[in-house]
Amino acid sequence: MRSDTPGNPLFVHARVVDGAGKPIEGAEVDVWHASPVGLYENQDPEQAEMNLRGKFISGADGRFWFRSVMMIGYPISMDGVVGFLLKAQDRHPMRPEHLHTLIFKPGFKVLISQVYDPNDPHIETDVQFGVTKALIGDFIRHDELHPACRMSRLPGTRSTTPT
Ligand SMILES: [Fe+2]
Repeated sequence: MRSDTPGNPLFVHARVVDGAGKPIEGAEVDVWHASPVGLYENQDPEQAEMNLRGKFISGADGRFWFRSVMMIGYPISMDGVVGFLLKAQDRHPMRPEHLHTLIFKPGFKVLISQVYDPNDPHIETDVQFGVTKALIGDFIRHDELHPACRMSRLPGTRSTTPT
């Protein structure tokens, strides 16, 4: 986080593997996500430039991890033709909460994807039809104090772990 972003802590622990499940070391992983009010930093004057965006390098076991703040889903723009079509189909404009990733390593195809929270109320009806079973993360709510959160716990905090 590059600016104060109130919300529930999010702890991400993930692993980069090849098609056979073998860990990939040294992959560059770009991540970005919306804020707890559903806005990306470039949509929100309250957030610093590049807030809730980061770059990581996977370790020998393919793992990378970071701490952030839990995002929420957001509506797409209802302007113009898109709004007309959604209204005509009586569809909502919501995207379920998700974490964007772009993973790069020479010798591999670049992977650009998203990881979705299955607890989001719009997980079954993503307006962009972007959710597939393979993209649903293992989001775990911790009602008890998570070890990584000991120094900064706020009442009612939760951590979430896409894998
Ligand atoms: Fe998004």
